[in-house]
Amino acid sequence: MKSRSRPIAATQRGISTSVLLASIAVVAVGTAALTALLVNVFERKQEPTVAAATRVVDVTRDTTDPAKWGANWPKQYSSYLLTAQTTRTRFGGHGGTDALPQEKIERDPWLKRMFLGYAFSIDYRDRRGHAYMLKDQENTQRQTKPQSGSCLHCHASLIPLYREMGGGDVIKGFEESYKLSYKEMNQKLYDSGHAQTLSCPDCHDPKTMQLIVTRPAFLIGIQKLASSEAAVPFAPSIERWRTSGKAKPYDPNTDASRGEMRTFVCAQCHIEYYCSTSMPLTAPWGKGLAAEQIEAFWNDTKLPNGERFYDYKHAETGAPILKAQHPEFEVWSQGVHARSNVACADCHMPYMRDGATKVSDHWVRSPLLSVNRSCQPCHKQSEDEIKQRVDLIQTRHHDLLERGGVAITALMDAIVAAKKDGATPEQLNAALELQRKAQWRLDFIAAENSMGFHAPQDEARVLAEALDYSRQGELVASSLRRSQAKMASASGAAPALPVKPVVAAKAQ
Ligand code: HEC
Ligand code: HEC
Ligand code: HEC
Ligand code: HEC
Ligand code: HEC
Repeated sequence: MKSRSRPIAATQRGISTSVLLASIAVVAVGTAALTALLVNVFERKQEPTVAAATRVVDVTRDTTDPAKWGANWPKQYSSYLLTAQTTRTRFGGHGGTDALPQEKIERDPWLKRMFLGYAFSIDYRDRRGHAYMLKDQENTQRQTKPQSGSCLHCHASLIPLYREMGGGDVIKGFEESYKLSYKEMNQKLYDSGHAQTLSCPDCHDPKTMQLIVTRPAFLIGIQKLASSEAAVPFAPSIERWRTSGKAKPYDPNTDASRGEMRTFVCAQCHIEYYCSTSMPLTAPWGKGLAAEQIEAFWNDTKLPNGERFYDYKHAETGAPILKAQHPEFEVWSQGVHARSNVACADCHMPYMRDGATKVSDHWVRSPLLSVNRSCQPCHKQSEDEIKQRVDLIQTRHHDLLERGGVAITALMDAIVAAKKDGATPEQLNAALELQRKAQWRLDFIAAENSMGFHAPQDEARVLAEALDYSRQGELVASSLRRSQAKMASASGAAPALPVKPVVAAKAQ
């Protein structure tokens, strides 16, 4: 079980001269803090790469066994091993037991209802540490439905396998992999000797230890983003590439700054994607990273049979649904931290002191478990105050999200009722389109794992749109019921029941 909401201490003071004087002092301290913040952001970018360790073991891009790298870089390796530990915060890490994370679809039944007709309605749990990614994927009940070999893209250290399958060409191997079933590809992974979760060569060049990105779906997706006209304030290297003649396609491994790479390594996996045996794994960034830009990308995409793209048809309503997956990178990109070039690694892989040197913490987990190292290098408030600020953002976000769940349920109820009254697919079309739009937005935010923190205002905006489209769809579906009722009473048949009034349920 997750802990319940923590009360937020309200400090109350009367206005007096001493308070006034104190406020002036606060302004002065505030200015000093802001200067310190800017200095800190600047210093972080100047941090030298600390890779000069005495190598005791030779590692190559095909060395996926992290223990071999660990012989050279024991501090990073020992923190990396800690991703096997259970982590828990109010909204982060996982509920349930240490053996198995909690079902999200049981905690929030509206999620299960939204996913009817798709494998996510069978099993969809909290995430946990990187050490589990392969095992959890192999064991999910979603595997009771046929899955594609592309699933492994983000759940194993599989670049050497792509290389092998493509006769030396990683992209070619990648393009072969989606056609295989999950079971076939998984077998190949074990046969190749690389059945290993995310490992050092997925993010590091073995010679220089500099950051690299290796995942083909990311490389192709970010090139499409660079070639688009979408604003990218979080990626100055793309803006530079756009104005510098575009001689070669944008390549993050040569064009991106070190600061950008501290985000891109994570954006290899913590992104929205499409994965099936009918087309290669796709990162949908050709029109930009905002929720509605990705929606526009999918709306313009055709399935191999020529139909407009959808992930599944909703089992109860028949709406052609877009399923969203963990868009941490996309959502982060819309927030103020991204605009200030604060990278995923700044918060999720903060520095640890090791004598005179600094080591990046490879125990990637919730930053709320390391506020002093993750936030306080830039924010001078007390640890308690920082935690309360996050909690306030997350509480408000969670309340809005749950309201979204109530609204989408009302929409589905209204469509089901209209169908029961005999509304035809043509009549229902507008309501089904609104379900697609509403559900895309709600799922996009629900699937994002920071509970509103990564971009509070943009996530609230997207949720507000989800609510609006849900209620619009409900009105359309309900009006169908009423017209059905009129027609029915004119023909002497029994009128349909009036639509149940929608109670604005208080989220909790
Ligand atoms: C400014 C700091 C900051 C940045 C930058 C940041 N995050 Fe987060 N992230 C957080 C906080 C705070 C949470 C909420 C943790 C919680 O609820 O315990 C979070 C939550 C998460 C979670 C869920 C964690 C859990 O314990 O379940 C994931 C996954 C995640 N972030 C990935 C990313 C990725 C990927 C990026 C970059 C694209 C990124 N974050 C950028 C601060 C940050
Ligand atoms: C583009 C990268 C990517 C691909 C492709 C991918 N995943 Fe994941 N998967 C992730 C990330 C990131 C998480 C952790 C965040 C989360 O759980 O939302 C995750 C979490 C999971 C989890 C644990 C939480 C849950 O959903 O129950 C399972 C199981 C899983 N994925 C199965 C699959 C399956 C099956 C496929 C193929 C259909 C797949 N993944 C394809 C990146 C990916
Ligand atoms: C190869 C794909 C991949 C890469 C690269 C990757 N992740 Fe993950 N991440 C996952 C998957 C998959 C999970 C969920 C594993 C599970 O639930 O079994 C996960 C889980 C997490 C969690 C939850 C940890 C917990 O204790 O609950 C956080 C936080 C996170 N990732 C952040 C990051 C950050 C930050 C980066 C970049 C430094 C990153 N990830 C890079 C795939 C990836
Ligand atoms: C998800 C990507 C990712 C994986 C996997 C990963 N690292 Fe890192 N590593 C980073 C990031 C980000 C940094 C910070 C680099 C920077 O800022 O230039 C880093 C830094 C380092 C450094 C430089 C010194 C330091 O601590 O900042 C070493 C050495 C290192 N990692 C070793 C390892 C080893 C050994 C493994 C495997 C056990 C590993 N890394 C796995 C992302 C990763
Ligand atoms: C590398 C520096 C850096 C780190 C690390 C960092 N921040 Fe920030 N943070 C900033 C900057 C810069 C801003 C924007 C300030 C501005 O422009 O007004 C900001 C803004 C914020 C805001 C207000 C904006 C919003 O999105 O609501 C909150 C809250 C916040 N940070 C919390 C955190 C927390 C919590 C952590 C640690 C998990 C963290 N920050 C880590 C630099 C940082």
